[in-house]
Amino acid sequence: MSDDFRVARKTLQNHHITSSQSFTKHDLEYILSITSKMESGIHSKTNSKLLDGYILATLFFEPSTRTRLSFEAAMMRLGGNVITVEQAMACSSAKGESLEDTGHVVSQYADVIVTRHPESGSADRIASKSIVPVINAGDGPNEHPTQALLDLYTIFSEKKKLDNLKIGFLGDLKFGRTVHSLVHLLRFYSINFTFISHPTIAIPQHISNILKEYGCQVTETEDLESAIKDLDVLYVTRIQKERFSKDDNYDDLKDKYQLTQSLLNTSKADLTVLHPLPRVNEISPAIDDDPKARYFKQAENGVYMRMALLAAVLGKSPNQTM
Ligand code: NCD
Repeated sequence: MSDDFRVARKTLQNHHITSSQSFTKHDLEYILSITSKMESGIHSKTNSKLLDGYILATLFFEPSTRTRLSFEAAMMRLGGNVITVEQAMACSSAKGESLEDTGHVVSQYADVIVTRHPESGSADRIASKSIVPVINAGDGPNEHPTQALLDLYTIFSEKKKLDNLKIGFLGDLKFGRTVHSLVHLLRFYSINFTFISHPTIAIPQHISNILKEYGCQVTETEDLESAIKDLDVLYVTRIQKERFSKDDNYDDLKDKYQLTQSLLNTSKADLTVLHPLPRVNEISPAIDDDPKARYFKQAENGVYMRMALLAAVLGKSPNQTM
């Protein structure tokens, strides 16, 4: 193991993962390399005892299919156990308990906590009183760092590189927390960013400013037809209906963009289309079998990346059982 990886391994151990802004480039490279080991070892069950005896607690105060199930599957694939509340809204927070108290108590029952909550900053509040690592699986419109890690892994496995790529982000760039977290990871690489959206749900200015400070090229447009032509990756997102106030124009925005086969035909032959899912109308199911559509593989990768992350925060290296 290289010195850089040794440092990354040490910093991730026992560390809260609440924002993608706290990762170094070495942390990312370490996680990508462990994720790839987890992927290649999955069928031989190479690491099926790595987290034997460890307990993951999942606390989801918002709906989830992929994130929660892939975290729970990841823990079980590594031989660990999972405790959960049926619906987090049905736990003591419904009686007025603070997130800090919930974090304190649950951390006495588990070795790692994964949480999702509608409020920005909620994962930090839970982490502030937790004696075990807390992983943010989405705090309102703010961040979703583990989705960003699996997105980064998917881009790397599809493109075999992370530099010199032109990546388009389409849809709800204002409330889309997966976009916010992913661009923070991509700032370390030589990426040309094209943000495609209606101006009312454009990428927040403070995020595009950070990218510019890092020397990244940033373009903003409403014109998907022109933008798609020279992209290497198109990252599509759902309009985040649940984050709109009733005065906002969700109905005007929901059908503004739809990726169809005819539009896809105008893109580069090796375009990769990603989406964190769930999709609504923004990608036509008719393109699911097109080799450019990689969003279901992206969802599969969530298990491998979450296996890697759980092992990393619990201080276990997959080599130990190989
Ligand atoms: C995303 C989320 O929850 O932010 N979903 C996910 O975790 N895969 C995207 C979304 O809900 O649109």
